[in-house]
Amino acid sequence: MKTETMKRHILKICYFAMGLPLLVNSSAIAQTTKLTLDFTKTGAKVSPMLYGLMTEEINHSYDGGLYAELIRNRIFKDNATTPEGWSLVQKDTTSKASIKLIAADPDKVPYDERRLSINGALTTCLRLTVTKDGSSAGIANEGYWGIPVKPGTTYKASFYLKGAGRTQPQRRPGGPQNFAPPVPVHVIENNTAGPITVTIESNDGKTIYASGTVNLEKSNFWKKYELTLTTAADVKPTTDARFVISTDRTGLYYFNLVSLFPPTYNNRPNGNRIDLTKMMIDMKPKFLRFPGGNFLEGPDIADAFPWKSTLGLIENRPGHKGSWGYRPTDGMGLLEFLMWCEETGAEPLLAVYAGYSLNGDHVDAGPLLKPYVDDALDEIEYVMGDVNTYWGAKRAADGHPAPFKLTYVEIGNEDWFDRSNSYDGRFKQFRTAIDSKYPQLTCISTIADKQNPDMKITGQKPAVMDEHYYRSSWDMWENASQYDKYDRDGTKIFVGEWATREGAPTTNLNAALGDAAWMTGMERNADLIIMSCYAPLFVNVNTATTTAPKAWQWDSDLIGYNAMTSYGSPSYYVQKVFSEYLGDQVVPMTGENIPTQLKPLSKRDSVSGKKQTSVPTVFYAATKDEKTGAIYLKVVNALGKVQPVTINLKGITNLSKNAILVVIKGTKPLDTNTITEPEKIVPVTSKIKGIAAVFSQKLAPYSVNVYKLQAEK
Ligand code: AHR
Repeated sequence: MKTETMKRHILKICYFAMGLPLLVNSSAIAQTTKLTLDFTKTGAKVSPMLYGLMTEEINHSYDGGLYAELIRNRIFKDNATTPEGWSLVQKDTTSKASIKLIAADPDKVPYDERRLSINGALTTCLRLTVTKDGSSAGIANEGYWGIPVKPGTTYKASFYLKGAGRTQPQRRPGGPQNFAPPVPVHVIENNTAGPITVTIESNDGKTIYASGTVNLEKSNFWKKYELTLTTAADVKPTTDARFVISTDRTGLYYFNLVSLFPPTYNNRPNGNRIDLTKMMIDMKPKFLRFPGGNFLEGPDIADAFPWKSTLGLIENRPGHKGSWGYRPTDGMGLLEFLMWCEETGAEPLLAVYAGYSLNGDHVDAGPLLKPYVDDALDEIEYVMGDVNTYWGAKRAADGHPAPFKLTYVEIGNEDWFDRSNSYDGRFKQFRTAIDSKYPQLTCISTIADKQNPDMKITGQKPAVMDEHYYRSSWDMWENASQYDKYDRDGTKIFVGEWATREGAPTTNLNAALGDAAWMTGMERNADLIIMSCYAPLFVNVNTATTTAPKAWQWDSDLIGYNAMTSYGSPSYYVQKVFSEYLGDQVVPMTGENIPTQLKPLSKRDSVSGKKQTSVPTVFYAATKDEKTGAIYLKVVNALGKVQPVTINLKGITNLSKNAILVVIKGTKPLDTNTITEPEKIVPVTSKIKGIAAVFSQKLAPYSVNVYKLQAEK
């Protein structure tokens, strides 16, 4: 990653991380806390798209994450000088073989190997040279921190393989007289046609979990070989495994685009991991914001998300630089994002590149920006154009004739980092073009006037503005009522990234308490907050090994996984429960005698003479479902002791005595879930009785409580 880009990342992290907690001082609880749900007043309509998901390629979210490909560095471009993720395997010390990365660089490779590109995307390959028969030599891939071996599972393997031919000077196009220059030639006999062995095996090579063969043809051309590998039903699950393609015969063997897929969700080719997809479906997301985040912007203008080269066959996807220090394959391309939406029931929320990148460069509004605006219009057409449009027809050719529903297009990402103030002009140019071609779409501004008061969009106010908050739990508790104070001037807020950043790689209970408090604030104001999504969604939790770096770049994420399994953080369960138990109308609520605690001062606050503030310890919101009569009450206890509350349902007469209570709680703020202890903190659902217009509850220490009450119809 470029130094400038790193600085930008660090700057962002510092920006969000100020004011970390030091000490807790809780005040005495004087009188019982009373929460009143006022059914005599009509509350605002809840935005039907309140809760969604945000995603980008960070923390190996796709490669080594949701995108089910198991081979790391499948087109050998991750590192220009070494075949990262790959190694040579051979029978023993008597074997004679080697591997070498061959980039189609005319200055560096023998004449013959200049012609090893398969196409403009697959320009680098791996050469296996075997100089002694019986060497059992091959190439091995370590996967993304291991290859997951699961019982009774069929994996789809494929790869391009080319045996070497005798080197001949080649005719150049242009005439028979035009022979290639007599460069040093690399004379190797043709490989013998015959079996090539493909295995998933233990890293020490002693256990073969699944194997198959393909027959190498006696040909001088690239050919794609495909086969399936199936593990036995009684195999013990492990990630201590590698993928190997080997031979016993001498020769030169060139490999490219080596791929191994386990079963995917809905068996979609080039599809997604099943466990992670199910976890998202359980969250009932209403939209998916993609492709970023920083991933949209790219480290520099040339490496912004290149949606056009993410389309079609994976053979045509070269991948690109990425924004988080590793090279995305772009196997998760634009159409795959859209099909992910389809699979999870979410509407796409498309963020288009707006001419500003992480190194701080921007493209000035005006003629220079026009190609970027046109590119965004093409992208929108690919998403929602019918098959008679140019890009709609491309989408159909890629296998999805039906257009996707699209309502919101976000112009850029976090353009408040662009201190040149160029966003005003850039936003206007994008909005004008999009409005005129797609008047039904709403453009979202990444500059929001409350969060960035010094950076206005002039002229017509954006209909929706994106605010981002990465905070400590103290800051979440202190600001949980921030939206109660916002004007209702018609502009809506999209909280496009937010999280309580405590715990790594996934968040802990304290973060979940911060999240839940914050979400009660968004729910009370669910007319103003039309959409919200937590970030980051995914993290591969592997730490560094001798051959692979630590998998994640950002602490405090929602869903963790390794190659084998996955788990939800306490924050994940808060999101899931909040989304599941949500009505369509806000119930106005008030709280009395809410206990508070003193928020510790950070060093910086103390130095600047700032006074300590009192922050609430109980947070609440309620919504009701007009059709079913269900009432959803959410109450958070941020303190480590039981807090009694009286709940008063004002103006309701027809209440069922029975209710459902879902509680997420723990014993310590640092309690968390992990790969090895995935369910330490999960929602526990129980039935409760004795519900009346006024009823009492004891909120468990460190708990998020969701009540489903029922007004009889
Ligand atoms: O969510 C991680 C990063 O935080 C996003 O990429 C960026 O938009 C924000 O700064």
